[in-house]
Amino acid sequence: MGTPAFNLHKFRAAQRAAPLSDFARELFAGLSQGVRSVSPKFFYDAEGSALFDRICELPEYYPTRTELRILTDSAAEIAGQIGPDAEIIEFGAGSLTKVRLLLDALERPRRYVPIDISGEHLEAAAARLRADYPALEVQPVVADYTMPLVLPSRESAGQRVGFFPGSTLGNFSPEEALSFLQLAHRLLRGGGLLLGVDLVKDPGRLHAAYNDAQGVTAAFNLNLLRRANAELGTDFDLEGFVHSAFYNSPLRRIEMHLVSRRAQEVTLDGQRFAFEEGETIHTENSHKFTIDGLRALAVQAGFRPAAVWTDPERLFSVHWLQAPASQ
Ligand code: TRP
Repeated sequence: MGTPAFNLHKFRAAQRAAPLSDFARELFAGLSQGVRSVSPKFFYDAEGSALFDRICELPEYYPTRTELRILTDSAAEIAGQIGPDAEIIEFGAGSLTKVRLLLDALERPRRYVPIDISGEHLEAAAARLRADYPALEVQPVVADYTMPLVLPSRESAGQRVGFFPGSTLGNFSPEEALSFLQLAHRLLRGGGLLLGVDLVKDPGRLHAAYNDAQGVTAAFNLNLLRRANAELGTDFDLEGFVHSAFYNSPLRRIEMHLVSRRAQEVTLDGQRFAFEEGETIHTENSHKFTIDGLRALAVQAGFRPAAVWTDPERLFSVHWLQAPASQ
């Protein structure tokens, strides 16, 4: 088995004591393993976030625009499932474009609670939404949504609805995805989860989406090393590593790696790490789902899969998973 992209247990342990930065400690641990890896959460510094926004606009990167299309085309049906006076909990502050589509379609949405680990990102997002939706209560929560958390108590008569777009679920390992869904189920009892996930498809199409012609995804991946050099004083040679993304069909996932082009050494915190030519650092997984597979996973977490919407090419899917009040 490959290394999970985002190790919940390591991450939790890292949260408890912090002499070195989380980034330094996790990179050190990740480079010390036989199969080297680093958590994708470190991609998103200011530069990484800007590159990610550019990925979403790329002609080859179909997921963002396909999901937006599904949300637009199915807005009335989605709103019908959710009903009036809902409270929206978004996991990740995310792209406000997506939640706006939802808010615009809903009848009297009452409250929007974005949960994100970065407070700055959240406040900026909240301020922009408040300006445009004066009747909406916007109550950001700074937290890591992969860990148990307490939400502001529910006040409205409507449903509490989780929103998790962007196929971010696919960036977890299968075990982490299940624990996330179980956690979401506990938070959303009496309501449901609106979940966007990317679908299994022609590997060529998948390959192109993560190997764009302009090299933006490569720059995004390599930005991790640039960030390490800037923040941790490592001496990664940015010319010495290349972006590699490929579809691992047995595991139904795109894997992203940084591959060493030659034998070289890198120093972190006084320790030297030797790389052989071709040795990789595994930086991310993006799991692809079948509609039935996703629904089965949701059932395992306690949800009752209700509606599912997709695009005509069946590239991407948006699921409405109910979380019945008592079970
Ligand atoms: N969750 C999306 C996906 O897996 C977006 C994403 C996360 C992404 N990390 C990425 C896209 C790295 C490209 C490269 O596709």
